[in-house]
Amino acid sequence: MKKTTDKIILVGFMGAGKSSVLSPLANKLDLKSIEMDSILLQNSGRSSIEEIFLNDGELRFRELEIETARILKNESGCVIATGGGVIQNKIILDYLRTNGIVVYLNTSFAEIQKRLSNIGDRPLFRDNVQAEKLYNLRAPLYESYCDIVVTTDGKNIEQISEEINQKLN
Ligand code: S3P
Repeated sequence: MKKTTDKIILVGFMGAGKSSVLSPLANKLDLKSIEMDSILLQNSGRSSIEEIFLNDGELRFRELEIETARILKNESGCVIATGGGVIQNKIILDYLRTNGIVVYLNTSFAEIQKRLSNIGDRPLFRDNVQAEKLYNLRAPLYESYCDIVVTTDGKNIEQISEEINQKLN
C-alpha cells in the first residue's frame, strides 16, 4: 500500500503516454494537470521544443528543464507529466520527487517505435538505433527511481489511469 499523496509524477520514455494519461488521471484523482514541457516552453521564448534544440541546443533545454522542475518543487494537488529525459538528471528528480510519488509508464521500445514512427517532433527520436540506445540507457533509471510501475503495452488510456489509481491506494 502506497502512502497517499496529492502529487503524482509521471515518468517514462518518449511516447510512453505520459501526456495522454495526464488529464484522465488528474480528473480521476481530482488533481490539476501539469505538463512540464509546456511550462518550460512558456519560459523559453521559443515556440516549440524542437526550436529550442535547434537554436539553443540540448544543453540549454536541460537548463530550462532544471528551472522548470525548481518552479514545480513546491506544487501539490497535481499530476505532473515530465519529459522523457528528466530521469538523467538527479537535480530534476530531487525537485520533482519532493512530497511526490513517481509513476513509471513502462512501454516496450517496439511499441514506442510504432507510436512515434510518423511523428517527427522529437529531436532525440530521429534515428531508431540512437533512440534504442537511449531507451536502454534510461530503462533501468526509470525502474530504480520510481515508486510504482505500470506497463502500458496493449492497454488503453483508461486502463492505464485506472491501474495507476488502484496502485496508489
Ligand atoms: C525528451 C523528451 C521529450 C522532450 C524533449 C526531450 C527526452 O518529451 O522533453 O524532446 O530527452 O527524452 P516526451 O517524453 O514527452 O516526448
